[in-house]
Amino acid sequence: DAAEKGGYEHFMLKEMYEQPKAITDTFSPRLKDGMIEIEELNMTEEEIKSIQKIMIVACGSAYHTGMTAKYVFEEMARIPVEVDVASEFRYRNPIITDNTLVMVISQSGETADTLAALREAKERGAKVLGVVNVVGSSIAREADGVMYTWAGPEIAVATTKAYSAQLIALYLLAMKMSQVRGTIDADQLTGMIEDLKSLPTQVEMLLENKKKIQKFANRYQAAEQIFFIGRGIDYAISQEGSLKLKEISYIHSEAYAAGELKHGTISLVEEGTLVVSVLTQEPLYKKMISNMEEVRTRGAFVMAVTVEGNLEAEKAADYVLYIPKTNEYFMNSLAIIPLQLFAYEIAVGRGCDVDKPRNLAKSVTVE
Ligand code: G6P
Repeated sequence: DAAEKGGYEHFMLKEMYEQPKAITDTFSPRLKDGMIEIEELNMTEEEIKSIQKIMIVACGSAYHTGMTAKYVFEEMARIPVEVDVASEFRYRNPIITDNTLVMVISQSGETADTLAALREAKERGAKVLGVVNVVGSSIAREADGVMYTWAGPEIAVATTKAYSAQLIALYLLAMKMSQVRGTIDADQLTGMIEDLKSLPTQVEMLLENKKKIQKFANRYQAAEQIFFIGRGIDYAISQEGSLKLKEISYIHSEAYAAGELKHGTISLVEEGTLVVSVLTQEPLYKKMISNMEEVRTRGAFVMAVTVEGNLEAEKAADYVLYIPKTNEYFMNSLAIIPLQLFAYEIAVGRGCDVDKPRNLAKSVTVE
């Protein structure tokens, strides 16, 4: 066991440190001569052009990468996207037309609900693309096309590197489709490819904050509840940050679309409640800052995760963690790193079984 952990205290920690490699291994085989080539996509340019709707179906963290992908595909490729948790999709009589592409995202490729949703979608005539980590898994075999995330085997129940690899696969798909559909130009594509290539080093740098985050996490070990807020992509990031925290630390946590706070959640904020605020999307900075001020006035301690240079955040936050600049679509890949570290450090501090949290399974193969 110790040998398998390669010197790390937990598999989760080891896997967090494997993220730069998971990211590189997922994008590098798909970059050819400054272009994106996804042979496994199994779709002609005509088919890509004729997509009218994408439906993304997944569970858990994979669902959160789907939430991120919705913003990316809609903005970059201008394709409407619906995202569903698999257990909802399969029972809601979804509307699938000939030009609907269904994407199922799964680390294990064996999640029962996701697999059933895939079968349901195929039966209704959809073309199904799997974004899968485990080679030869059920979802990989049954999908019409499969794009592998090359994260390697993941042992810790709480996913980190497979999540990061899924994001990359989805960015590549969005970039490819946008290029084919003409919604981005050659310069934009080149810029994004450069930004993709910088991600592994940027993630490495962010992992160096472990000690600093540990110190901060120590202060919140006894917290009863922790909230996460964000808008747009930052809402999706918040959802994953909150899930990581609650699954391994057992601290009650919820993520909210920041603008929705005032419709209920804000009543839960008490003196000293930690509110983690994610603000990586420049057009939404101002809106986020006013939400941070709202909770702070009610006694919250505000921790912000934002992009270098956004000094405004310091005025509304009690503690700020910066991430380096990248393309706005790729921010999740960076912002999630301090949130993973935060969840991990809190859980370790509370003496939790980080790799095998109670009641959870790595792969849920029953309904
Ligand atoms: C379980 C795991 C989660 C994972 C989810 C979906 O609940 O604990 O970490 O996100 O299943 O798994 P999949 O293998 O389909 O990505």
